[in-house]
Amino acid sequence: MYTTHSEVDTGSGVPVKEPQRQLYYIELIKDIINKKENETGRKQLMYVNTFGCQMNAHDSEKLEGMLLEMGYGRAEKETEADFIIYNTCCVRENAENKVYGNLGMLKPYKKKKPDTIIALCGCMMQQSSVTDTIRSKYSFVDIVFGTYNLYRLPELLYSRLTSGEQVCEIMTGRGEIVENLPSVRHFRYKASVNIMYGCDNFCSYCIVPYVRGRERSRRPEDIIAEIKSLVADGVCEVTLLGQNVNSYGKGLEEKISFAELLRLVNDIDGIKRIRFMTSHPKDLSDELIYAMRDCKKVCRHIHLPFQAGNNDILRRMNRHYTKEDYLGLVEKLRENIPDIGITTDIMVGFPGEYNVDDTLDIIRKARFSGAFTFIYSKRNGTPAAVMEDQVDPAAVKKNFDSVLGEVNRICAELNLEKVGKVFEVLAEGVCGQDERLLSGRLEDNTLIHFEGDHSLIGSIVNVRVTESRIFYLMGKQEDL
Ligand code: SAH
Ligand code: SF4
Ligand code: F3S
Repeated sequence: MYTTHSEVDTGSGVPVKEPQRQLYYIELIKDIINKKENETGRKQLMYVNTFGCQMNAHDSEKLEGMLLEMGYGRAEKETEADFIIYNTCCVRENAENKVYGNLGMLKPYKKKKPDTIIALCGCMMQQSSVTDTIRSKYSFVDIVFGTYNLYRLPELLYSRLTSGEQVCEIMTGRGEIVENLPSVRHFRYKASVNIMYGCDNFCSYCIVPYVRGRERSRRPEDIIAEIKSLVADGVCEVTLLGQNVNSYGKGLEEKISFAELLRLVNDIDGIKRIRFMTSHPKDLSDELIYAMRDCKKVCRHIHLPFQAGNNDILRRMNRHYTKEDYLGLVEKLRENIPDIGITTDIMVGFPGEYNVDDTLDIIRKARFSGAFTFIYSKRNGTPAAVMEDQVDPAAVKKNFDSVLGEVNRICAELNLEKVGKVFEVLAEGVCGQDERLLSGRLEDNTLIHFEGDHSLIGSIVNVRVTESRIFYLMGKQEDL
């Protein structure tokens, strides 16, 4: 689950090109770490703490890949590590508060073990207000970098190790896509693959376009090559990742749509399941719906955030669709792919949203098999932050509770309908709560725990649903 790279020649100067340059620094750090291990008589350990979305989770796999290649081992907990890195998120205020809270707890640790290196990276660091706070209030942090230069961790760490000084590098602009750096996978049989970076949509509440930059698509041949090598390493399910996968291809020399990419991935031998996220309703084309319908390996599931139901709110959110457009898409999806599971993101309490009647209406009509529900959080620098009619938190809480209640009621109903039926499940691993059970997902992304032999892990199994809960199912392997 860990990619290594061929020998790098460290004798002939620092390479200018990437990824050779970072591979060069990795080699230099290997020596430093070796020396430290000889001095201390124990392995140097690292700990990566990830906040935020799948994009960050996947970035952390790349950070870990580089750190393992340098010679670090994995620490079980933060307070055993010699190198600690937080990959941060700023999509809502509480995500940022979590980072500051954890950081506060690191201060005494660093005091006790001053040789520990503490690094911060990710979305939060792309905001100058944050880097200013880090510099003034958290001066014990050693390395700070952002989302554009994640791949430069080796060079930045080398600079910190050799100079002993704090290193802070935040880039803006377009950001280079660097291929073929070491990476690890958190799961043996499933993997995430970035197909694009950044976002151009500028929904009026959202900070992501400011901290992840403009949309950049990876070349299809790089994506296909990565998936083929994952398959060769035992992966059978891939999730294609992007903030808005439906607009994949924009800006590439070769003209290619997301639907076309999906068909190319579907043709790869050995891949059993293909997922993707996230889709923006405004760019969900008929071509994509037909590709999902036709491609047997593409899971019957779509994550299609609608955020809010009221047309005036949707307009002020800059979402570029109406409630009717959204419900029309749901209908079209169900017509073409009858057993599709639709999941969504919902936000409550956007400025001016005093009631959630239209949101509840969409929930009832679309019947989501899952939903992430969020309370609107004001993000400085976004247009919504300066909108006048910010809603009273008590009213928001009440609306949020009714949205959550309705979402859960429908999820439970949909799960109950599955009881007694047989579904294909990719057995992903042993259930965290009960070692006798395996856990996996139905094609529509519903989680299921089921009785089955451990030898089934990594294969697709027929499972009969025996019980349903709000958020998951219980089942039993169906005898063939
Ligand atoms: N690109 C994806 C989602 C990225 S952020 C998409 O557009 O679907 C994930 C979710 O966080 C969003 O769908 C939205 O529901 C929520 N979100 C984004 N900004 C937020 C904010 N300021 N306050 C509360 N929730 C927010
Ligand atoms: Fe944010 Fe909208 Fe882009 Fe999603 S599509 S990341 S919500 S700006
Ligand atoms: Fe993801 Fe949070 Fe960044 S949701 S893109 S990690 S701001």
